[in-house]
Amino acid sequence: MTGYHCLAIPGPTNMPFEIRQAMELPLEDHRAPDFGEFTLPLLDDLKKIFRTQTGRVFVFPGSGTGGWESAIANTLSEGDRILTSVYGHFSHLWADMCKRFKLNVDIINQNWGKGVPLEKYRELLEKDKNHSIKAVLVCHNETATGVTSDVMGVRHILDELSHPALLLVDGVSSIGSLEFHMDYWGIDVAVSASQKGFMMPTGLAIVGVSKKALSLCDKADLPRCFFDFSEMARMNDDGYFPYTPATNLLRGLRASVDMLLKEGLDNVHKRHFRLAEGVRRAVAAWGLSTCAERPEFSSDTVTAVKVKPGIDANEIIKHAYYDFKVSLGGGLSILNGDVFRIGHLGWTNETMILQALGGVELAMLKSGFLFEPGAGVGAAIQHYSGTKRLVLQAA
Ligand SMILES: Cc1ncc(COP(=O)(O)O)c(C=O)c1O
Repeated sequence: MTGYHCLAIPGPTNMPFEIRQAMELPLEDHRAPDFGEFTLPLLDDLKKIFRTQTGRVFVFPGSGTGGWESAIANTLSEGDRILTSVYGHFSHLWADMCKRFKLNVDIINQNWGKGVPLEKYRELLEKDKNHSIKAVLVCHNETATGVTSDVMGVRHILDELSHPALLLVDGVSSIGSLEFHMDYWGIDVAVSASQKGFMMPTGLAIVGVSKKALSLCDKADLPRCFFDFSEMARMNDDGYFPYTPATNLLRGLRASVDMLLKEGLDNVHKRHFRLAEGVRRAVAAWGLSTCAERPEFSSDTVTAVKVKPGIDANEIIKHAYYDFKVSLGGGLSILNGDVFRIGHLGWTNETMILQALGGVELAMLKSGFLFEPGAGVGAAIQHYSGTKRLVLQAA
C-alpha cells in the first residue's frame, strides 16, 4: 500500500528528522580527550527535562525496564519492605520485578482505570510507625490504561507523616511530555526511556536520581553491576561512562533535548493536552468511553478506548494496521480484546492525530461497529479549530 505508515502507538513514537539526522554520523571515540565537551552539557541539560537542580540524570544503554531495575537495585536491600500499587500492565510488571529481587512487597491492587490509591497509601504509611517501608513506588502514567497519577499527592502524604521512605517513580510515558517535577515532587528516582517523550529509537534508560538516593547506594545490597549508579556517577563526573556508551543514541538525545527545550516544557505540556483533548472528544463522539475512570486522571500521552461488548478491539487494530496503515496500541494482559490505545505523544500535531482518528474510524466501520462516519474526526477538528458545529444555511 502506498503512503506513510501512521504510528499512533504510545511508544516508540514518531522520530523527528532532526533526531534521525543527528544520529547519522560516523562512529566516534567514546574515550576521546574531548568527549566530555559533548556529554557534560548533555547530562546537565537532561536535568532541565526532569526538572531537577539537586539530582543527577544517568543514561544507561537499555529501556524503561532497565531503568526500573536500576531504581530498585541501587537503593534497596534484600527483604526490604516496599509499598506499591497495581492499576495496569506496567505498574504490575514493576511490582513483579520487585518480588523477583526478593523485596517484601506490599501491593495495593486497584481497578485498571484508576490511579495511585492515595488514601490507602496514607493508611499503610501512617501505620508504619517504625518506618519499615523503605520505598514507595508510583507509576506516574500507566500506559496500559491511559491514567496519570498524582505523584505530588504521594509526596504530600510522606511529608505530612514525616515518613523517610524513598519515592521511586516510573515516568517512562510522561517525562518529556507531561508535567513532571522531580525536585518539587521530591522524587528520589525517576525512570524514563528514549522511545517515548524523547522521540528517539528504543535503547536508552534515562534515570533521574536524587542526592538522597545516591547517598544510599553504598548501603543497598541488591545485586547490580551494569546499572550501578555509583560507578556511573564516578565516570560521568568527567564526561565518560563505565562501558561503551551508545554514542549515536547520545547524539540523538542531544537533538531531542534541544528540541524539547526550544519548544519550552510548558508549551510541550500544553500541546499534549490540546492534542489529547481532541482524541477524548472523538472517543465521546463515537459513543465510547475511555479506560480512565475519571476525566481528571486521563492521560495526555495515551488514550485507552473501551470497545462495546460484542466488538473485538483486536479486529479494529488488525484492520487499522493491514487495511489502513495505522498502528494502534493493543489492550495489554487483562484488557486484551476490550481496549485499543491511541498514542498521542512526542513529535506529533493536530493533522497527525486526525490521520490516526480517521484510520480508527475506517477500521471500526470495517469491524462492524456502527457510528456516524466522521463523528470523531469532526469532534477533534472542532476542538482543534475552536469552532462549534456549523449549521450550513441554504443559500
Ligand atoms: C509506563 C511504562 N513503564 C515501563 C515501561 C517499560 O519500558 P520498556 O519497554 O522501554 O522496557 C513501559 C513501556 O511501554 C511503560 O509504558
